[in-house]
Amino acid sequence: MADPSVFCRRRDIFLSHLGSYAGIIPAAQLVTHHADCEYPFRQNSDFWYLTGFDEPNAVALFLPHKPKGEQYVLFVLPKESSAEVWTGFRWGVKGVLNNFDVEISHNLNELPTLLSHYLEGAEGIAFRVGKHPHLEPLILKTWSEHLQKLPRSGFAPLSMIAPCPILHDMRLRKDSFEIQRMRLASKISAEAHELVRGFARPGMNERDLQATIEKHFLDKGTRGPAYGSIVAAGDNACVLHYTANNAQVKNGDLVLIDAGCSLDDYYNGDITRTFPVNGKFSEEQKALYEIILGAQEAAIRCVYPGNNAENVHMVALKHLISGLVDIGLLVGDVDSIIEQEAYSHLYMHRTGHWLGLDVHDVGAYRLGDYHLELEPGMVLTVEPGIYVSDRLAVPKGQPEIEAKWKGIGIRIEDDVLVTNDSVEVLSKDAAKQLIDLER
Ligand code: GLY
Ligand code: MN
Ligand code: MN
Repeated sequence: MADPSVFCRRRDIFLSHLGSYAGIIPAAQLVTHHADCEYPFRQNSDFWYLTGFDEPNAVALFLPHKPKGEQYVLFVLPKESSAEVWTGFRWGVKGVLNNFDVEISHNLNELPTLLSHYLEGAEGIAFRVGKHPHLEPLILKTWSEHLQKLPRSGFAPLSMIAPCPILHDMRLRKDSFEIQRMRLASKISAEAHELVRGFARPGMNERDLQATIEKHFLDKGTRGPAYGSIVAAGDNACVLHYTANNAQVKNGDLVLIDAGCSLDDYYNGDITRTFPVNGKFSEEQKALYEIILGAQEAAIRCVYPGNNAENVHMVALKHLISGLVDIGLLVGDVDSIIEQEAYSHLYMHRTGHWLGLDVHDVGAYRLGDYHLELEPGMVLTVEPGIYVSDRLAVPKGQPEIEAKWKGIGIRIEDDVLVTNDSVEVLSKDAAKQLIDLER
C-alpha cells in the first residue's frame, strides 16, 4: 500500500492545476446485480488516485480558492454500527481525520447544506458531468443558486470544466511508486500464466484453467482478476471478449488466456498468452504464432521515448500483414491492404492501450492530429493477434480461407513500461517463445 505522502503529493499537483476552480471528485457507489445483491465494491480510480480512501459514496472536494487547511475536504458515510454489522467497517469522520491526511471531514448527509459554502469564492467548478447522476442534481442546483445571487454577490463560479484532462494526464505518467506496483501486478499475473501452462492438459475444461489462474491471484493477496479472465480454447479464441470459459479443451487446441490481477491498491496486470494444450503446435498454428510473435517483438522495439502508440500499432500491423501475405491468407501489397482495411477480418483491434489503475487506462493517445509522444513512466500493452474464423466476411479481393486455418485465434500481450532510453517488459516472466511453449 502507498505511503500517505504519495496521495498528498498527487493532491498538491491536482490543486495547483485547478487554479481557482473547485474540484469535486466522487467515490464509486455499490452496484446491484441481481435482486439486492451487490457486486464487490470497486473504487472510482480518479477518486482513489487522489485519496487512497476505499469506501463507497464519499465525495472529495479540492478547494484551491480556500486558505491552507481548508483545501481538501472529504465527505464520508457516518460510523453506524447498524450498517457496519451488514456491510463492514467504516472509518467515519473521526477515523478519516486521524488516518487520511484530510484537512476537513464531514458526514455525507451534510453535503447538501455545506456544498454552497465550499464553492464560495471559486472561479468555476471542475466536475465530470454525466458520470455521477446521483450527485449531479445537487451540484447543478448549488451552482445555480450561486449564479442567481451573482448580481448582489458580484462573484460566483461561472463555468464548469471536466477535471479529466488534468487528472488523466497525471495518471498517464506513473511515478516510481506506481511503477513498483505495476511491476508487481505484472509479475503475479505472469506467474499465473506460467502455472496454468504447466497445469493445462487436453480434456480439461476452460474453467479449470481459469480457476488455476485466479487461485494464484488470490493466493498472492490481490483482489483477484482485474477483468473477466478470458480462457478460450480453439475457435473460442476468435471471440475477442470471450468470457463463458466453459468449453472442453480438446487435444490439438491452442488455448488463449488473457488474464491479469488487480492489486489491493488497484494496479493491474493484463497479459495474454496462447499455447498448445498438448504441448505441440500444428504447422498452421506455428506459422501464425511466429508471425504474431515477430510483430509483437518488432512493436515492443518501437516503444521508446519520443515515439508514439500509433507508430507502435503500425509496426505491428505491417508485420502481421506481411506475414499473412507470405502464407497466402492475404493478397496484395502491405500499404494498399492497410489503406483498404482488407485485413480487418483477421485483425480487428488496436495493438495496445495505456495500463494503470484502469486496465484500459485513462490518458489521451492523440491531441487532434498530434500523437502523444511516449515518455518514461508511461505503461502500455502491446498485444497483436490474429483470429481466423468465419465470423466476418472476407473483404472483396481477398482470398477465401482454407479450412486448415479456421478456428485458430492467437494473441500475445505484454505490459511494457517506457524507460529513459527504451522499455522494460513488466510481464517478461510469462514465456512466449515457441521453444518454451512446447514440450
Ligand atoms: N484484457 C483486455 C485487453 O487486453 O485489452
Ligand atoms: Mn490489453
Ligand atoms: Mn488483455
